[in-house]
Amino acid sequence: MSNGGVNEGRRRFLTAATSVVGAAGVVGAAVPFVGSWNPSAKAKAAGAPVKANLGKIEPGQMIIVEWRGKPVYVVRRTAESIADLEKLNDQVRDPNSAEPQQPEYVKGVARTIPGKEEFLILLGLCTHLGCAPMYRPEVGAADLGGADWLGGFFCPCHGSKFDLAGRVMKGVPAPINLEVPPHSYETDSVIVIGVDQEA
Ligand code: FES
Repeated sequence: MSNGGVNEGRRRFLTAATSVVGAAGVVGAAVPFVGSWNPSAKAKAAGAPVKANLGKIEPGQMIIVEWRGKPVYVVRRTAESIADLEKLNDQVRDPNSAEPQQPEYVKGVARTIPGKEEFLILLGLCTHLGCAPMYRPEVGAADLGGADWLGGFFCPCHGSKFDLAGRVMKGVPAPINLEVPPHSYETDSVIVIGVDQEA
């Protein structure tokens, strides 16, 4: 049903996800690229909203949903990883998201709609030069700083690191946090990417 352009994008992201497993020997880090309930390829290209079902995402797992030709990362965070975010406030450049990298209804260090901290929604495009950051949730990953690494995203192109809220670490090439796209909750387990949450 999809055409070449979409497949190209999928292949690229899947390759990136696969290389995480290959390079680090991590089990369970493969990221499924889920189908969304798009009305048609034509509508999708025009920027139609897409929905994603959160109910099938395991704690600690990430899925990727395509929206407007871009990858949207959807991560189900564990309670522990949400609690860990505060510990990183000194190590990230913009701990409280002062810069406009998210809709105004997205708040706090967890960078979600208040009350929806479990699910992180991010554009999977590095804010340096646009590569797809790898999901690296393993606490203490030796190649990412060992004990200091509490899980997050690593961009393989030039080494930028982001925490599990998409907040950029200090001292890396990426200048700003990963972007949170507009989104809203249709139900507790269904999000709509591309439609703003109503106040
Ligand atoms: S594109 Fe990600 S660090 Fe350069």
